Amino acid sequence: MQKRSGVRRRALFLVGFMGAGKSSVGRALGERLGWTFVDLDERIERREGRTIAELFRNWGEQKFRRAERAALRELLQELQNGSAMIVALGGGAFVQKENVAGIKSVGVPTVFLDAPVAELWGRCQQQRSSQQVDRPLLLDAQGFRGLYEARRPGYLKASLRMETSGKDAAAVAAEVARALNLERRKGG
Ligand code: S3P
Repeated sequence: MQKRSGVRRRALFLVGFMGAGKSSVGRALGERLGWTFVDLDERIERREGRTIAELFRNWGEQKFRRAERAALRELLQELQNGSAMIVALGGGAFVQKENVAGIKSVGVPTVFLDAPVAELWGRCQQQRSSQQVDRPLLLDAQGFRGLYEARRPGYLKASLRMETSGKDAAAVAAEVARALNLERRKGG
């Protein structure tokens, strides 16, 4: 039975900076547990019919954040209806007060995927060249570090911090499942 705050639902949120591995760990965890994986950025792209990079270009960051909040509200509603899911948030979503309050109000664990900032930067550079991942807030190495440092105290409000340095997505997914005592249930 799904209950309100304080009771663990079959859901969790992955938070952290760009390059933390939220989407790849989320996918691996979804497969491992048999839960639906939802990437909030992909949702926004589908809703709006444009990529995140295009939305930043056309709208600017403020309007993007409004769309992000709206997509998250919609998702939290689905969660209230009891869907088992793993949600990967974009790097700026968990540092907005309204989003954090909404997530906390549904009483699901939040997991901060952390790594040294140099490694996060390296992963983002690699994804940019090998997968053409276009991140509008990638900036230069110094700006990237500054944004990470400004946001880290917010990420640390997650219920669990998981060190991901040098680990692949499957290994991190296994550690998250173990730490939260989650396992695939028979028949679902
Ligand atoms: C952002 C991170 C991106 C995406 C958008 C803004 C941020 O998601 O939501 O470009 O503010 O850090 P990823 O963390 O998945 O790259």
